[in-house]
Amino acid sequence: MQYFSGRFKEKASDLILDFHSTIKFEERMAYYDIMGSIAHVRGLGKQNIITHEEAELIEKTLKEILKEIEEGKFKFLVEYEDIHMNIEKVLIDKIGDTGKKLHTGRSRNDQAALDLKLYVKDEIKKVQSYIVELLEILNKTAENNLKTFMPGFTHLQKAQPITFGHYLMAYAEMFKRDYERLENAFDVMNFSPLGSAALAGTTYPLDMEYTSRILGFKRPVWNSLDGVADRDHVMETISVLSIIMVHLSRFCEEIILFCSNDFGYIELSDAFSTGSSIMPQKKNPDAAELIRGKSGRVFGDLMGILTAVKGIPLAYNKDMQEDKEAFFDAVDTVKACFTVFNGMVKTMKPNKERMLKACHNGFINATDAADYLTRKGMSFRDAYKITGTIVAYCIDNKKSLENLSLEEYKNFSDLFENDIYKEIDIENCVEKRKTLGGPSEEKVKLHIENTKNFINTAIENIKNYKLNDIF
Ligand code: ARG
Repeated sequence: MQYFSGRFKEKASDLILDFHSTIKFEERMAYYDIMGSIAHVRGLGKQNIITHEEAELIEKTLKEILKEIEEGKFKFLVEYEDIHMNIEKVLIDKIGDTGKKLHTGRSRNDQAALDLKLYVKDEIKKVQSYIVELLEILNKTAENNLKTFMPGFTHLQKAQPITFGHYLMAYAEMFKRDYERLENAFDVMNFSPLGSAALAGTTYPLDMEYTSRILGFKRPVWNSLDGVADRDHVMETISVLSIIMVHLSRFCEEIILFCSNDFGYIELSDAFSTGSSIMPQKKNPDAAELIRGKSGRVFGDLMGILTAVKGIPLAYNKDMQEDKEAFFDAVDTVKACFTVFNGMVKTMKPNKERMLKACHNGFINATDAADYLTRKGMSFRDAYKITGTIVAYCIDNKKSLENLSLEEYKNFSDLFENDIYKEIDIENCVEKRKTLGGPSEEKVKLHIENTKNFINTAIENIKNYKLNDIF
């Protein structure tokens, strides 16, 4: 700060410099800061606010600085507070007075707003790529498990039979929505704040449409106060990241449950499990637990940014620089979780026998027995009651619906015939559920097809994505 100041007589104390400096965690913004500066300087040249030669020299030097940063040769200094001033300082060191023209008609306020928007946009695309990778894994695993029967649960009590494929595709839907939520957040934030300057725009005739366009935005913001004071994109994107963590965490919770000894529905690969320091038999799902636990961090980041922004008067206030650590932590966490999660899901093995066995206790075909009576003319409520009585009888006599004799069935209703056994056969129970989105093979296949199309469109979208026309 001191470097640029004429207003101050005394040097800032090291304490305050250290306290408000963002450069300690902001180096990752260098690429975006330089991109924004190049757009700005091209705009200045285009409008003859500075000469073309000056604009070209600044652009060339900024590119050199970026190279130095990428090669690890650049020294970031706390005394220059943030990424913007660190880079501007070196620019001026390199080309003197011409470098001092870069900041004409610009403020760190629109610069900071712009940099983070560019960064958030890029990160959104990265998170989307992880989602697509996971969708491919889910689709493929589901395809291989269209006939892997398992109990579906409500209240964590066995409810009705489904398949492992059907189960996995439920998560595919959640992640498809997350992908769309990210896309939506991207579209909503896609307006360039460059030109808003400190808060009230500037007297220089900037061509904001031009800089907005070469930076890959839809158009400039409509209001300069909003341009610099808006952090909705940070809040919204962390909201979506939080929802993603909810989904990952629910999935992890089930993985932990399903690979426990008592369930044994799935086995995690050794590569994604850990042992115990004392109990030799242990194979723990630590990765799933850690992802479940890390959801808390991301929710914390969301609460942090919501709270930081909620009481800020327009326009820029220093509170707003809390946006970066919140976003960095949230997005780093989500990406790290996906890296591990995708590998864990890809390599886990369903235990088909255990799942099928689990289908044969817990009366998960009781609804089918009631539906059977209903189809033979009884009202559903009466059929429900009779089937409940049969279940109670089975419990008392340690039997299941499958191994009751027809005679026993007939004691409850004359409508029972030999075809009841086919009706309550687990595979048949699943196959009969042909409503859209249901577990029958045909409907899960349909869902998989739809998801394939979704994946292909998403891959195309990500491939065609280009942040800007600068680099
Ligand atoms: N480092 C600041 C931030 O991250 C940049 C903007 C500073 N603007 C100011 N007027 N102090 O928000």
